Amino acid sequence: MLEIIHRDGLARIGKFSTAHGEIHTPTILPVVNPNIPTLTMEEMRNLGATAFITNSYIIRRNPKLREKAEKYGVHSLLGFNGPIMTDSGTFQSHVYSDVEFSNLEIVDFQRKIGSDISTILDIFSEPDFSYDRARAAVMETYRRMAELPQVDDTIIAGPIQGSLHMDLRKLSAELMSASQAGYLPIGGVVPLLENYRYDDLVDVILSSKINADFSKPVHLFGGGHPMFMGMAVLLGVDVFDSASYVKYARDNRMLFQDGSRDLSKIGSFPRWSPLYGKYTVEEVRNAAPEERFKLLSMHNLSAIFNELEEIREQIYQQRLWQYVEARSRSHPYLFRAFLRLLDHSGTLERFEDLSKKSTFFYFDEYSERVPYFKRIERNLGYIMTPERGNYRVLSPDNWHPGRTHSAEFISLYERTAERFLVPWNNTVIPVELDETYPFQQMISSGFVRPDSIAAAADIPEGGEPVDAVEGATRNFRLERVRMVADFQFGSGTGKKLFSDECEVRVSRSTGRLRSVLLKGQLMATLRAHDGFFTLGIAGAQKLLDISPGLMNRIVVTDDSAEFNAQGYNVFFKFVKKFDSSIIAGNEVLVVDDKDNLVAVGKSTVSGPEMGYYKKGVAVKVHRGIREKPEADQD
Ligand code: GUN
Repeated sequence: MLEIIHRDGLARIGKFSTAHGEIHTPTILPVVNPNIPTLTMEEMRNLGATAFITNSYIIRRNPKLREKAEKYGVHSLLGFNGPIMTDSGTFQSHVYSDVEFSNLEIVDFQRKIGSDISTILDIFSEPDFSYDRARAAVMETYRRMAELPQVDDTIIAGPIQGSLHMDLRKLSAELMSASQAGYLPIGGVVPLLENYRYDDLVDVILSSKINADFSKPVHLFGGGHPMFMGMAVLLGVDVFDSASYVKYARDNRMLFQDGSRDLSKIGSFPRWSPLYGKYTVEEVRNAAPEERFKLLSMHNLSAIFNELEEIREQIYQQRLWQYVEARSRSHPYLFRAFLRLLDHSGTLERFEDLSKKSTFFYFDEYSERVPYFKRIERNLGYIMTPERGNYRVLSPDNWHPGRTHSAEFISLYERTAERFLVPWNNTVIPVELDETYPFQQMISSGFVRPDSIAAAADIPEGGEPVDAVEGATRNFRLERVRMVADFQFGSGTGKKLFSDECEVRVSRSTGRLRSVLLKGQLMATLRAHDGFFTLGIAGAQKLLDISPGLMNRIVVTDDSAEFNAQGYNVFFKFVKKFDSSIIAGNEVLVVDDKDNLVAVGKSTVSGPEMGYYKKGVAVKVHRGIREKPEADQD
């Protein structure tokens, strides 16, 4: 079972245990062919490998290897005492249309030789398979999973098949998730990878991933080219395996993070290459074939681990989307896949955090189709396409960032009754949200689309004054906190959560809104870094009273409730029910069976993921009801 350490949408830095140690993800398992060792284990470990994959079918067929593996185990055979995954011979059966062993025999063999992750003999579903043929492959693969006895001493890998038929990928993901498989490789994709069909891979990976059990690591069979790894991780792939480092080396080709290059065409090695400073390009070109093969394999494996290291860092900083967006410009096929990715923004949005550690980058119109933009559209749709007449787009004279703290602006706002919108990257947003993520936490290229709402809107020339409305009275600060609450907790909550009696406090040093109180009790604090709320117990209780059904809630067991009330975190295994539309990183109400509030905290994952995880923290509690009331500090 995978435990999340950091996340960015579907991408995750995580870890899971095997009998020979933990595997930290995302990672790649280099393919080791026990017949033809290219690099030594030590060389590969020095380049970053921490786990490997080998083929049990090849071992089983070779009497010498078989004997050694059966006697001493696969770890001794490979000379590595960490995690080893074994494949089953499916790929050989696919290429040579014949394997000599049954599914039960080959799985039993893997178990016997001490494999940490054993793979069933699945049916490889080619991209051009008809629906019926692909369905038969999915069902036979499932039958083979179901015929296994309960196996406890190895993790079973249950491949997801289904060709390019997305409903079959979904079916296969659901069947495998419900089975004893603890590990879910996406299979049948090598032909897509070999032919740069990354756009189709986007569909295949996503329909497999979002229908799979999120607590099971997802593996992409054969996905070893660094240029596609970022996108695959963004779609939820945790582990790769690949022989690409040797396959490319055989053809005198070198892997780079943005593609492959011919040894015959390059002028120098990059600094990160293990060949840099040790060999000239000329020397490698003229080396004996086996020596050259080895050197290029080392370079290639290094390129792969370099890219994985960068991807990990991008997840940590929650900038993976921007990284993939930039990377996709390095190759037209990758860009084609990026366009396909944008088609899925609505689906990906459900997994995005409420706000990110990193600044939102606005480049051009493509930036308006990213998952987070879908959330803005969904939450603010009625404002993004304003009806003429009931809104006003403020001119730069009336508004610019930071202006909403000035007495002039507040007076202007409070004397009028119109909806005030401000230009933001070819669109308009409510002025009340101008300090909330990502509206302020953003760097823009300033790109202007000819048909942009902001450009076409009637921004008054020369600061035409906004008309005052007789008798209009509204409270800007209260309207601002209500609008933020609408965005964060659901349309219509703001007004109910923060009644007219609420007092909105402002920071003396910055002038920014800081907290909302009701009758001296702290309802919520507005965070400076993302402009969203952290709820106090009084605010959480009010939100509970106004949210119907399971909305904004996580229901925990009675045992857990006791601890959570004292301020301790909620663990996944104690979650009984939850709102499936919870946004990762958002405030959630921790309640007991009888819908009594016990604590308030931050959800670590989104609603669609919540039910799957068994290990780790589900809610980082910041306040339990039995703790002493929080003070409002300036
Ligand atoms: N290696 C590459 N593709 C596959 C696949 O679909 N199944 C298995 N078991 N191994 C693979």
